[in-house]
Amino acid sequence: MPTTTPLRLAIILGSTRDGRFAPTVGAWTRARAAERTDWTVDVVDLVETPLPTVFPAFGQPPAPGTAELLAKVSPRLAAADAFVIVTPEYNHSFPAALKNAIDWHNPEWHAKPVGFVSYGGVSGGLRAVEQLRVVLAELHAVTVRDTVSFHGHWDKFDAEGDAVDPASNTAAKTMLDQLAWWAHALREAKAVRPYAA
Ligand SMILES: Cc1cc2nc3c(=O)[nH]c(=O)nc-3n(C[C@H](O)[C@H](O)[C@H](O)COP(=O)(O)O)c2cc1C
Repeated sequence: MPTTTPLRLAIILGSTRDGRFAPTVGAWTRARAAERTDWTVDVVDLVETPLPTVFPAFGQPPAPGTAELLAKVSPRLAAADAFVIVTPEYNHSFPAALKNAIDWHNPEWHAKPVGFVSYGGVSGGLRAVEQLRVVLAELHAVTVRDTVSFHGHWDKFDAEGDAVDPASNTAAKTMLDQLAWWAHALREAKAVRPYAA
C-alpha cells in the first residue's frame, strides 16, 4: 500500500566558490520544487557543511572534528528520498567540493533517484552532469534522464531570480516529475524488499 507521507527532497548546491552564482540557481530550483505538494525540501549548501579532504583509513572512524562536520550533513542525505544536484561546470567536470561530499557517503545514495540542474558556459554544465551520472551509478543511485541546464547562465535570470526563458520552468517540471516518479517507486519497493547493495 503506497504511503501518503511526503517524500523528502534534498537539493544539493555543489559550488562553494566565493562570489558563486549557485544561490541564484539554487533558489530558482527550490521554487520549482515547491510547486509540488508531495515532498518537503531541504537545501544542503556545501558552503555551510564543509568536509575535509583527508579520509580515515579503511575501517577506522573519522576523527572527532570530522564526525562533528559529518553530523551536519550525513543525516540529511540519509533522510532524503530523492536528490537534485545543482552544479556548475568546472574544467569539463563538476566541482571538487561536490565530489568530496559525494565520496564521504555511500549508503546515503543507495537506491535513490538524482536529478540535475546545471549551469556554465556554452555547454550549460552538461559535461559535469554526464560525469556525475557515472559517479552516482557506482553509488547505486538512479539518475533521471531529463535535466535542466543553463548555458551562459549569467543572463538567464532576471532581477527577481526568475528564469527569463519559460522553457526552463517546463524543463524543471519534466525533471521533477521524473524524479518524483522514481522516488515514489523506489520508496514503495524498498518498503517491500530492502535494497541489497
Ligand atoms: C575553476 C573553474 C573552471 C571552469 N570551467 C568551466 C568549463 O569547463 N566549462 C564551462 O562552461 N564553464 C566553466 N567555468 C565557468 C563556470 O561554469 C561559471 O563561472 C559558473 O558561474 C561557476 O559556478 P559558481 O559561480 O556557482 O561557482 C569554470 C569556472 C571555474 C571557477
